[in-house]
Amino acid sequence: MADDATERAVSAHYSGRALLKRVISALLAAGIDPAEVTVEQLAPLDNFHSFGVAGTLELARETQIEATDRVLDAGGGIGGPARLLAHRIGCAVTVLDLSPDFCALGETMTAWTQLTEKVTFVCGSVLQAPFPDASFDVVWTQHAAMSIANKPRFYAEVHRVLRPGGRFALFDVVAGPNASVLFPVPWADGPETSFLLPPSEIRALVTSAGFRERTWAEGAGVAQRFSQPLVPAGAPDKLDPNLIDNVWMGALGPERLRNVQRNLQAGSITLALGVFERV
Ligand SMILES: C[S@@+](CC[C@H](N)C(=O)[O-])C[C@H]1O[C@@H](n2cnc3c(N)ncnc32)[C@H](O)[C@@H]1O
Repeated sequence: MADDATERAVSAHYSGRALLKRVISALLAAGIDPAEVTVEQLAPLDNFHSFGVAGTLELARETQIEATDRVLDAGGGIGGPARLLAHRIGCAVTVLDLSPDFCALGETMTAWTQLTEKVTFVCGSVLQAPFPDASFDVVWTQHAAMSIANKPRFYAEVHRVLRPGGRFALFDVVAGPNASVLFPVPWADGPETSFLLPPSEIRALVTSAGFRERTWAEGAGVAQRFSQPLVPAGAPDKLDPNLIDNVWMGALGPERLRNVQRNLQAGSITLALGVFERV
């Protein structure tokens, strides 16, 4: 598939399903007024990656993000990680995402949490990032690269929009050593839109795009950083624990999540977390 055909399919995968309505219903059912919802209350349902909010905080710690950093979240979804970074650290974050539905919902949720001045959304592709050279101090990506076939182009764009000395942080699902992947999974219904590479290839691609490696962990080295489940349940108290399945992944949500566990157990997929410095 050419890049734009892949992107159309990926954007469709992450669109529709009356997302805003479902989020509002879930919040109201939990007794939360959307207009007064906090970043912490939203966090269990808007950090759309393994280990949820704990994954975001771990990557932020490794990356040493500071309040003065200009951050780009490449494939940032509905902006949960961006809001968390802006709220906890105070940095400005630009979310770049393919899905117009996700960007629109992200803007609404950002307005609810009064972070509009810190978190902005741009709908577009990370393969043609609509920013001048050296615009950011940090480029960050979580669980988007599985949908990106043209990784050399992706890492070249990350390099271009980072200032020299800037950091590139990634937290992704990557190929494991064993059997082929069982579908559907959260990021794809089939192999046509799933592009996993082994960790060694990702490291080599990023390095050859012009980065020096600062930290790298994969497989058990990632899992051991977290004490909580891979797919966190809902909010500690009130939100429906199935929300993340139902709202974001449609009717196949539970099956997608079961397949993540099966694929991990079979060694078909694993996790990688790394921070690099732009040379
Ligand atoms: C599983 S979600 C993760 C969202 C977010 N990073 C998070 O962790 O909450 C993957 C996101 O990557 C986005 N994505 C995939 N390919 C992309 C591309 N080529 N350009 C921009 N966004 C992309 C999708 O639209 C989707 O919102």
